[in-house]
Amino acid sequence: MCLLLAQIHLSAQPSKHTQKVEALLAKMTLEEKIGQMTLYTTDWGSTGPTIREGYRTDIRSGACGALFNSHTTAFTRELQRIAVEESRLKIPLLFGYDVIHGYKTIFPIPLGEAASWDPAAAETSARVAAVEASASGLHWTFAPMCDVSRDPRWGRVMEGAGEDTYLGSRFAEARVRGFQGRGLGNTDAMIACVKHFAGYGAPMGGRDYNTVDMSERYFRDFYLPPYEAAVRAGAATVMTSFNDYDGMPASGNKHLLTDILRKEWGFTGFVVTDYTSINEMVNHGVAADDKAAGELAANAGVDMDMQGAVYQRFLAQSVRDGKVPVSQIDDAVRRILTLKMDMGLFEDPYKFCDPEREKRVILSADHRAKARDVARKSVVLLKNEGQTLPLNTKAKIALIGPLGDNQSELIGAWSGSGSGNDCISLLQGLTNAGGNVTFSKGCNVEGDDRSGFDAAVALARQSDVIVLAIGEMAWMSGEAASRADINLPGVQEELARALKATGKPMVVVLMNGRPLTIPWLAENASSILEAWWLGTETGNALADILYGAYNPSGKLPMTFPRSVGQVPVFYNEKSTGRPYDPNSKWTSKYIDSPNAPLYAFGYGLSYTTFSYGDPVVDKKAFSNGEKITLRVRLTNTGKYEGEETVQLYIRDLVASSTRPVKELKGFQKIRLKPGESRDVSFEIGENDLKFYRRDMTYGTEPGDFDLMVGGSSDQVKTIRVQLKP
Ligand code: GLC
Repeated sequence: MCLLLAQIHLSAQPSKHTQKVEALLAKMTLEEKIGQMTLYTTDWGSTGPTIREGYRTDIRSGACGALFNSHTTAFTRELQRIAVEESRLKIPLLFGYDVIHGYKTIFPIPLGEAASWDPAAAETSARVAAVEASASGLHWTFAPMCDVSRDPRWGRVMEGAGEDTYLGSRFAEARVRGFQGRGLGNTDAMIACVKHFAGYGAPMGGRDYNTVDMSERYFRDFYLPPYEAAVRAGAATVMTSFNDYDGMPASGNKHLLTDILRKEWGFTGFVVTDYTSINEMVNHGVAADDKAAGELAANAGVDMDMQGAVYQRFLAQSVRDGKVPVSQIDDAVRRILTLKMDMGLFEDPYKFCDPEREKRVILSADHRAKARDVARKSVVLLKNEGQTLPLNTKAKIALIGPLGDNQSELIGAWSGSGSGNDCISLLQGLTNAGGNVTFSKGCNVEGDDRSGFDAAVALARQSDVIVLAIGEMAWMSGEAASRADINLPGVQEELARALKATGKPMVVVLMNGRPLTIPWLAENASSILEAWWLGTETGNALADILYGAYNPSGKLPMTFPRSVGQVPVFYNEKSTGRPYDPNSKWTSKYIDSPNAPLYAFGYGLSYTTFSYGDPVVDKKAFSNGEKITLRVRLTNTGKYEGEETVQLYIRDLVASSTRPVKELKGFQKIRLKPGESRDVSFEIGENDLKFYRRDMTYGTEPGDFDLMVGGSSDQVKTIRVQLKP
């Protein structure tokens, strides 16, 4: 069904609803058509700078055809009734919401899920989210966020899959599959929305909403593929981004919305803007007023105006002025009505309003169990000196730090309708596991209150081991939450230093929405777990890891810089003409810092250890159309069963445009018992070697390639092969 869905949204074939859509369209006034192109938020919550009154009046008059930030069966039933009983044409509403990493049962933030390197885990997360949200009257989620980002200053890195194009593409398509499930029309399926199209993750200075400008080549090679992967996975809607690209804001960018999205990719769903992003084209300076901005958007290919009320106020006049052809309006309305029919809302506008189902599925034991499993898979072990971890449940733990007993922050940003009250704190999780734990807060995340230090240090002295839970506040990442300094906030590092002085082993559990610069911790902690924001089951998942019930297997989806001065720092950089050479002054380097980051993309430890044999290939040279098989022997050389994510990278050594020193092209998660070995194979073909060549055609070029395999982007073994002319 999902494949069929992809065909519906990708082919230009008429949908099965064409006749009904045309019949309805013929009855609609221009104003009613524009009403279908209008999306408003209710005052249930706020995700942007404006809130409007009067949405019930707008529904009744047919002036808006979709609402967001409105959920629960009771509220959506009330609003749907107005639409289908009191408006002239009785067209049902669509209800949208930001169901990003869970609706009520909250899963790890998407950046954390990406650290699992397990797209199936992200699909499970999206599936559970869709089951719960659709049971609460919701039809449409504004997810997956597919923005590649290499800049941890940008707060929205928490919402994506990190810095890599290939990893981001696999997670984008997995999330679309999860949300849309068996296909639109099923009562547990939600419309996915590919966002933010496009390039939003590359704002200058890492400052949210800032300008994005890069070559079309770079854009197509590194930033576009995850959006395309999500579209080709069958996502039924796309959301435009706030940023300009190549001098035109996405909401007015015909090259993006028509040339690429529709003509190249064959997308036939509908395009919605981000929150008032049509109006914001006036601030961008490409439109003199809202009416002109609406004309830019309508002619570029925007079908629905989120919250800006630009279409509602001016589009009819723009059509009358001949500035926007009515055919553009009709095409937009066809796409929107077709999707409402795909959802079955004309047959039964209340099919998603079943209070019994809502009660049954929300925060179910099964959903909590899945959240706990995905959370465990998302944690990255960054350091484990002297096998400090796993701990014995009899060990006397001094649990210290502002996030040790916290619940409210654990759901992170973009946490839907989730509540911290439903969360298992780290303290609760350790207690649930039968641990011998005493808690002392020590300090807050923010501010300079050191009054809790003494009690924390005293507790540490009486304990066997310190578990220090520190990091950010949830609001320090997400939208409009860029940071120019990505150190630990407040006096948390000072607390760590005071605890280090006790000489007790110190296990740091980091809870944060972005890579942080933690060189002192990296040097001085005994162990470090990167736990992101793990959601409702945080404490149980972390206890499973700390006490060894689960052997951590996460790998970083984003580079951790040594300092913010290195940003942007990412694994797939280009060679430059003067690649770093420690023996030469005249090379690309800093005089006050190494080039190497603190932790590399793809890095993550286990309680066990793994060794890699030398990679071998079945042929050293191949032609387009042929495949090469690379094989590498992986061995578990430690004492614990564990999972290793074997990563495959390639390098195109000579090409008609500069290429990265390595690019991820495959990965496999392999579980091995202590002492067990297994041959891991990858097939490499021409599709893995394609790029935008000097003439901007997409394809391969003959020559030498390095194939690299390893457990981190900075720890690989290489074999050279040749693509024949
Ligand atoms: C916000 C976000 C977008 C979200 C939308 C609706 O501004 O940029 O990701 O889906 O508004 O809440």
